[in-house]
Amino acid sequence: MRQISVITGLFLLTAAGMASTSIDEEKKHKNLRVLAKDISDDELERVMYTFNRQLGVTCLYCHVPTKNQVPERMDFASDEKREKLIARTMLKMSLKINKKYFDLSIDKKLHARPLIWCRTCHMGYPVPHNPGSPG
Ligand code: HEC
Ligand code: HEC
Repeated sequence: MRQISVITGLFLLTAAGMASTSIDEEKKHKNLRVLAKDISDDELERVMYTFNRQLGVTCLYCHVPTKNQVPERMDFASDEKREKLIARTMLKMSLKINKKYFDLSIDKKLHARPLIWCRTCHMGYPVPHNPGSPG
């Protein structure tokens, strides 16, 4: 009986150890320059899904898969696509518009709800239709 509980205890310790390393690894977002570096996976996912919805695209519009790796995975940290680089500038711009013109500070985990966001201009399209036509 005693032996069984020792074994169970060891198993649980090992399982807990494995679980915590895999979470730590996922938490390491390598290339966040605007969003908070310690943003959780859930929070980051929420932000990324707003991009998808508000621009009418999928993750692949901005992100590339890994090269020379089987099975293929997504290389979310890569800045290879120009769309991602533009999106980062747009993210900065959108935060700034809220702050500067609407006095609304938005934290880098986007807990606060912005007044102006991608949808305001993009309306569900990757490139806004008829942007800024003066006439
Ligand atoms: C419109 C472009 C765009 C779309 C669509 C998009 N992303 Fe991103 N993603 C970005 C940008 C820009 C960053 C970097 C933000 C920063 O620098 O703070 C980023 C960063 C990330 C990161 C962090 C990578 C790292 O290690 O630094 C992950 C993970 C991620 N995106 C996942 C996703 C997923 C999953 C989807 C689809 C649900 C998605 N993204 C859709 C633009 C996009
Ligand atoms: C104030 C209006 C405005 C807001 C807010 C805005 N955008 Fe844009 N965005 C534009 C305009 C206008 C263009 C087209 C620029 C051009 O044609 O050169 C554009 C272009 C883009 C492009 C490049 C499209 C392409 O393929 O050429 C991406 C990616 C993008 N925006 C992402 C975003 C994301 C992500 C957000 C939210 C964080 C956002 N934008 C918020 C106005 C806006």
